[in-house]
Amino acid sequence: MPPPCASFWLAPDVASASLTRERVRSWLDDHGWPPDEAHDLVYAVSEAVTNAAEHAFRTPPPRPRPDPPSIWVDCRLHEHDDGREVRIVIRDNGCWKPADADRGFRGHGLTLSGAFVDTFRLATGVAGTTVELTGRITAAYPGRPRRRPRG
Ligand SMILES: Nc1ncnc2c1ncn2[C@@H]1O[C@H](COP(=O)(O)OP(=O)(O)OP(=O)(O)O)[C@@H](O)[C@H]1O
Ligand SMILES: [Mg+2]
Repeated sequence: MPPPCASFWLAPDVASASLTRERVRSWLDDHGWPPDEAHDLVYAVSEAVTNAAEHAFRTPPPRPRPDPPSIWVDCRLHEHDDGREVRIVIRDNGCWKPADADRGFRGHGLTLSGAFVDTFRLATGVAGTTVELTGRITAAYPGRPRRRPRG
């Protein structure tokens, strides 16, 4: 059985989100997570990592940071009597950036991410930002049925 957890850290740059998608997708596949539900989780994790890379390190920190700018991703699988749950935490050691007043067509990532997962929590503080996501599979809800290919 593959390990029930996978953790890695990333430097915030343009490749952080794609690396995250590849690793989380492969870990979920190893655990036989249903493809459509895996896709939703990967989307939400990718958005949180993109946000950290794009927004968290734009301003100098109010006090010297002990660690280099970093993003941590921690994925854990929990077995319950009635099903399985994946919990993924994305944490950065940057600074929260207040949203721009005029966001134009931007400013939808967090709302969309929340809609794609079973639970979504965001916490900000002096040490940075933490996003925690969960996805669940139960006997009553084993995942969405695969759509038949068109044609
Ligand atoms: N990890 C983070 N660190 C600092 N600020 C953040 C972080 N995540 C989000 N924010 C702030 O919250 C705002 C809203 O994030 P959200 O992902 O919803 O929109 P966006 O990234 O601005 O645009 P998009 O629709 O492309 O995702 C961001 O513009 C930013 O100000
Ligand atoms: Mg975003």
